[in-house]
Amino acid sequence: MRVNVRVNGEQRQADDVWEGESLLFMLRERLGLPGSKNACEQGECGSCTVYLDNVPVCACLVAAGQAQDREVRTVEGLADGDALDPVQEAFVEAGAVQCGFCTPGLVVAAHDLLDRVPSPSDPEIREALAGNLCRCTGYEKILDAVRLAASRR
Ligand code: FES
Ligand code: FES
Repeated sequence: MRVNVRVNGEQRQADDVWEGESLLFMLRERLGLPGSKNACEQGECGSCTVYLDNVPVCACLVAAGQAQDREVRTVEGLADGDALDPVQEAFVEAGAVQCGFCTPGLVVAAHDLLDRVPSPSDPEIREALAGNLCRCTGYEKILDAVRLAASRR
């Protein structure tokens, strides 16, 4: 089937999508957007988090066909050209990125949190990021990054 979807502000089209295909596969393999990562494919790790109509979802759990005529924003779409989003910048500056596999999902989840709660408490940050697993950082640098981003927005 053909899927028409708006991705990062651009109208895109994917052909030969099969019924069971995930939004994550379509984004990465058909639309050339490898930012969202495929770690568990079971909705457990959050590395594939993208916005679907402004709501963060695990793209591995959404069928590609469900995105028809909807709006998707991936981690690539948070930057403004070459200028990183403040959340992306903060992750780099705070040293919150090691292998980087979890980072795109964490950045989208943190971006969503700060849109809803501009000055979150530590428990609010932890709760918002509870669905995003990181095997490298021990999470402290990630918390630092979100606090830093909040202080700049
Ligand atoms: S790859 Fe989607 S939640 Fe892990
Ligand atoms: S930086 Fe490696 S999993 Fe988070």
